[in-house]
Amino acid sequence: MKILVLTAHPDLKRSRINRAWFNALTEAEAVTARDLTAVGGPDMQFDTDAEQAMLLEHERIVFQFPFYWYSSPPVLKAWMDQVLSYGFAYGPGGDKLKGRELLITVSTGGPADSYHAGGYNNFTVDELLRPFQQTAHLTGMTYLRPFVAHGMALATEEQIDASVPEMLVHLTDPELDPKIKQARLLKALADDPSKAAAVS
Ligand SMILES: Cc1cc2nc3c(=O)[nH]c(=O)nc-3n(C[C@H](O)[C@H](O)[C@H](O)COP(=O)(O)O)c2cc1C
Repeated sequence: MKILVLTAHPDLKRSRINRAWFNALTEAEAVTARDLTAVGGPDMQFDTDAEQAMLLEHERIVFQFPFYWYSSPPVLKAWMDQVLSYGFAYGPGGDKLKGRELLITVSTGGPADSYHAGGYNNFTVDELLRPFQQTAHLTGMTYLRPFVAHGMALATEEQIDASVPEMLVHLTDPELDPKIKQARLLKALADDPSKAAAVS
């Protein structure tokens, strides 16, 4: 499985967590990691044909970013507006992303307990990421369970270091596709009915 990571940070040099992730990803096997701010330049202009060709070479597409106002930094939106075009990602003939996977890896400043009903951020990260989930749905992609690193505004160096392998394990997990995981669990059940309780 070839993985394309699109890192959307306005200034990776000043980043802690997304830079650590990006640096690790540039070394990872079967992963293409791209800094969208460097690619798009100050005007956030992308070569639509080149970006689309790159998407077609990968099965898993990863949007990686720090949470900014409950969404991504604007460079990712600019990339989406220019690259996920009519006739490519949606509309007549726009089935080129169908069957690929979309994964979000995101860092938040707020702690995990703030992203709950009753927490000071009120909503879960899953809820706040709905526009990305629906983008995957409209384009026929499989939306994967996001990877979220919480509390990164105050993270220690140890926490940053620890998140790198956790992110890599998640990002490369073939069972993130819920159909694949469910199929394995159902097969285990069929092979051994005594495992029924473990599967439900
Ligand atoms: C403009 C801006 C908006 C932010 N909005 C949020 C937010 O909505 N929720 C949140 O938890 N953290 C927010 N943060 C904190 C960042 O998500 C956090 O500092 C970042 O994930 C750290 O990543 P980095 O080290 O790669 O820069 C915001 C930070 C900035 C600069």
